[in-house]
Amino acid sequence: EAAEKGGYEHFMLKEIHEQPKAVQDTIAAYVKDGAIDFSEVGLTDEVLQSLERIYIVACGSAYHVGMVAKYVLEDLAHIPVEIDLASEFRYRNPYLAKNSLVMVISQSGETADSLAALRLAKDRNVPTLGVVNVVGSSIARESDYVLYTYAGPEISVATTKAYSTQLIATYLIAIQGAKVKGIIDEARYDALLKELNTLPEKIQKALDDKERMQWFASKYANAKDIFFIGRGIDYAISMEGSLKMKEISYVHSEAYAAGELKHGTISLIEDGTLVVGVLTQKELFEKTVSNMVEVRSRGAYLMGLTNYGNYSVEDTADFSVYVPKTEQYFATSLAIIPLQLMGYYVSVAKGLDVDKPRNLAKSVTVE
Ligand code: G6P
Repeated sequence: EAAEKGGYEHFMLKEIHEQPKAVQDTIAAYVKDGAIDFSEVGLTDEVLQSLERIYIVACGSAYHVGMVAKYVLEDLAHIPVEIDLASEFRYRNPYLAKNSLVMVISQSGETADSLAALRLAKDRNVPTLGVVNVVGSSIARESDYVLYTYAGPEISVATTKAYSTQLIATYLIAIQGAKVKGIIDEARYDALLKELNTLPEKIQKALDDKERMQWFASKYANAKDIFFIGRGIDYAISMEGSLKMKEISYVHSEAYAAGELKHGTISLIEDGTLVVGVLTQKELFEKTVSNMVEVRSRGAYLMGLTNYGNYSVEDTADFSVYVPKTEQYFATSLAIIPLQLMGYYVSVAKGLDVDKPRNLAKSVTVE
């Protein structure tokens, strides 16, 4: 097993470091000669053009990818998106509109609820797209279209690299959708693909700062509660950051849409409670900062996570973490790195079984 870990102490840390390559491989599988090529998937421009609605269905971290995808697909490709947890979708008798697509996102391709959701869509004659990592898995076999992610085998129960490749898959659909629907011109299309290609290198840059997260995590390893706040895509990033803390570090944490705090959660803030503000979206920066000021006045200790250049965050946050700048739609791919590292290092500092957290399974094949 030590050999399989390639010199890393845990599979999770190894897989965190494999993200530049996993992302690179997934981009390379579908971007050829400067254009997105879905011929392997069978997802033609005609199909994309005809889409009037997408239902994204998934569990766990894959659901959080769906949350990011909703913001990106609606804003970039003008496709209305509904997102459901698979365990909800399968039992809520969803009304599926015509010209829609059900997209099931799953690393393993075997999650029981996600598979049941896929079958429900098929029973209703709605086309299905599986975004799947494991080749030949049930969801891959049963979907009408399969968009494979190229994360390679993921061993650690807490997903990192599969999550990152699923994000890429959804960006590609949004970019191609925007193009075929005539929402973006050639120049914008080229610029988006060019920026997408810089992500592996920028993820590597974010990884290079890992000692800073290690230091911070050891300081906060005994935290009782952590709150992650953000708006828009930053809210979706917060959801995944919070899940990482819970699943491997056993720290109670919650992700909150920053503007919703005052409707309840703010009563939980005590002296020294750690609040992580995620601020990658330019238009929402000041809005979230104002929510950070509100919790600070109630005694919170603040970590700000933003892009290089947004140094004004230091006026509010006690501790600041920066990731490289990118197109706002792709921000999750970079901002998630310090949050994965934070979850990892808190777990290590507490001496927990990082790769096999209690009560959790890599793939949940029973309901
Ligand atoms: C389990 C794993 C999570 C994963 C979820 C969905 O709960 O521990 O990391 O996100 O299942 O798995 P899937 O294979 O469908 O992506």
